[in-house]
Amino acid sequence: MVTIKDIAQVAGVSPSTVSRALNDSPLVSKKTKERIRRIAEELGYERNELALGLVKGTSGALGLVVPDITNPFFAEIARGVSDVAHAQGCGVLLCTTEGDLKREARYLRFLRRKRVDGLILCAVTLDDPNLPELLRTPIPFVLVSRLVHGVDVPFVVGDDKAGGRLAVEHLVQLGHTKIAFIGGPPNVQSSRDRMVAYREVLKEHGLSFCSNWAMFADFTQAAGREAARRLLQKHTRPTAIFAANDVIALGVMEAAEELGLSIPEDLSLVGYDNISYAALPRIQLTTVAQPTYEMGRIAAEYILSVCNGKATEKLYCVLPPRLVVRKTTASPKGDKNVLP
Ligand code: RIB
Repeated sequence: MVTIKDIAQVAGVSPSTVSRALNDSPLVSKKTKERIRRIAEELGYERNELALGLVKGTSGALGLVVPDITNPFFAEIARGVSDVAHAQGCGVLLCTTEGDLKREARYLRFLRRKRVDGLILCAVTLDDPNLPELLRTPIPFVLVSRLVHGVDVPFVVGDDKAGGRLAVEHLVQLGHTKIAFIGGPPNVQSSRDRMVAYREVLKEHGLSFCSNWAMFADFTQAAGREAARRLLQKHTRPTAIFAANDVIALGVMEAAEELGLSIPEDLSLVGYDNISYAALPRIQLTTVAQPTYEMGRIAAEYILSVCNGKATEKLYCVLPPRLVVRKTTASPKGDKNVLP
């Protein structure tokens, strides 16, 4: 491995001059700096970022902690974060918690030990017990996509209540009165808010809330399939389902197909997130779009501005959702939804 001493030998200067030149010190002339940098490049010198970080007190890396990297929603957030980090000469350390608080605690400690400059966190639960400890550390952090109750921390999230309302209003406008809801985990704020919106809209339209048709599950395809199987085999089944994210909606599609039900003829379906798969020709899912990439971008820009001492105010950002109507929703057909 090429060292500063090797460069110094070739350049005929002292190792400290090489070090100063590579750190852009004003004590070295422009001409010498250029010569030393050229030699360093020719020899294939790579700086020890860890050692440099210890001296400068920064690592040049951000930590991004998300619950599920298989969900394209979080890949899109990561893309927003990574684009900003790249543009500002930073790296990103990505950790996935799988919705497990213990794993989240471990990764938060790991990232602190790695001396990341800032953290972007999509919390596991809305009463996340790992946050108080994080708040006691000097590392700046921002919540993305999910709020945590009882702590005053910066965030960038979508308006989940408004989004839930868009989904259910759309189904009501189409004439559905038998609308079911499949949520994510009950202790995740976005899941809970979408359920609240569902209940609100039913009430406003004089539609009764049936606890058999509203359930919390998990933000996964398998959970969506399981929940839909149960719902769609009930004596009186719903004519429409609002799935709290698109991955759940994919599971509902699987279940409907297994049970010989056509979408949207026998069952209307609305998802949430507008992940890239939602627009595929064979899927064409009606869904609520979130500005997901923007969430990642705003979170990263904010945290880097805190690191650079440029942020003047805490970020409290709520982004508006948008309904995207595709082909999984239509008006209900007569009483085909009562099983013989
Ligand atoms: O898809 C996963 C869900 O978790 C998203 O809808 C997002 O809002 C987050 O809370």
